[in-house]
Amino acid sequence: MSNVLRIAMVDPRDDSREVLKKMFLSMDSVWLEAECSRYEFFPDVVSQSSPDVGVVSLDSDTEKGINLLERMRSDSPDCALLAVSSSTDGQLILRAIRAGAKEFLPIPVSLEDLMASLARISEAKFGGLSGKNRGSKIIAVAGASGGVGCTSIAVNLGCILASEPQNSVALVDLDLAIGDADVFLDTIPDYSLIDVTENISRLDFQLLKRSLTKHSSGLYLLPRPVQLQDVQLITPDSLRRVFGLLKATFTHVVLDVSKGFTETDIAAFEFANDVLMVVQLDLPCLRNLVRLQMSFDEVDGLRDKLKVVVNRVGLESGQIKLKRAKETIGRDIFFQIPNDYRTMIEVRNNGVPLIEQAPKAPITIAMQGLADAITGKSDPDTGDGDEPNQAANQSSSSWLNFWPNKGAKSRSK
Ligand SMILES: Nc1ncnc2c1ncn2[C@@H]1O[C@H](COP(=O)(O)OP(=O)(O)OP(=O)(O)O)[C@@H](O)[C@H]1O
Ligand SMILES: [Mg+2]
Repeated sequence: MSNVLRIAMVDPRDDSREVLKKMFLSMDSVWLEAECSRYEFFPDVVSQSSPDVGVVSLDSDTEKGINLLERMRSDSPDCALLAVSSSTDGQLILRAIRAGAKEFLPIPVSLEDLMASLARISEAKFGGLSGKNRGSKIIAVAGASGGVGCTSIAVNLGCILASEPQNSVALVDLDLAIGDADVFLDTIPDYSLIDVTENISRLDFQLLKRSLTKHSSGLYLLPRPVQLQDVQLITPDSLRRVFGLLKATFTHVVLDVSKGFTETDIAAFEFANDVLMVVQLDLPCLRNLVRLQMSFDEVDGLRDKLKVVVNRVGLESGQIKLKRAKETIGRDIFFQIPNDYRTMIEVRNNGVPLIEQAPKAPITIAMQGLADAITGKSDPDTGDGDEPNQAANQSSSSWLNFWPNKGAKSRSK
């Protein structure tokens, strides 16, 4: 449970306590450690359970609630206090803050406000102080050419991450017109991205989870809209709200973006912590990557998030040498995935992920390595020293000389 914020709450009123409890229980980024219906028992509950956050409702008895905050501040200084009340009286808010509350939320508590408060507490507690990031990780998977293996990587990465019990993972198919993540997972989803974006203002965590399809690996899928006409209803703004909810709910969110590099894809890049750019070692792909990198420079911070993943390493024909590819794109390779046509066809046809279909295959081990490298558990596989397919490289090196000047400039970076 290292990725969640542990919470204890006290509210003597059954109705409001139930509402808050439901909210916390539906959030994967939160673990409800203890609930309490008596102010006087709460200090003991906190000292026994050592939660990260203590939620104190002031509605039942304001004086007792304020006194409790004061006591908690001195008795349990490591427990961040969050006060809630149906009164928004300025004096009460001030008293609660002076008594030790880090945050104050009005009842009915809105999901967005609650998420924002918990994010601030988490940031102060784990981000700022110990540098330990307990937030959600958003990984966008893009490709420099059609059919390079983005969906294969996004789906299998999602399933591998979801196989770890402490993770909760969602995959969003952002190839809005012709995405096929549902085929890779052999699922027939009831709802799609359009249902979620259209109902975003009414959505809570439970409804969000019910709108996603859970695969047997534990991965939650949010598929592309069924109707092509619906694609235009999905805007960068509506997506940002969906991303916000997903981020608060899951420990990892994988975004399979389209090859159109549309506004919604750029919104995904902005939201992501890492943008995996999948390429194969052929001329069109590398040329596209050089061009894309130039455009990415225009988007704040995007170049730094970019991680190049070379897929289908070892493919026989037309492959450019890895060293030459690195010089050309002017950056290191983050990871390499081997070519394994037979296994990948089986995986696709059967609609099962690599960890189920071929858990010991080198391609599965490489995908596992990619997941570990992204989550910081192991080093990237940069391919230093590898020299695949020299013969193919000799024939392609002459093509590289015809690249436009801009590409040549980038090569020398
Ligand atoms: N490492 C690999 N080895 C062999 N075949 C692979 C590998 N990765 C992907 N493939 C195959 O390549 C094909 C395209 O893969 P995939 O659909 O994942 O690419 P994509 O980039 O998502 O395509 P699109 O541009 O249509 O979205 C699939 O048939 C898949 O099985
Ligand atoms: Mg795809």
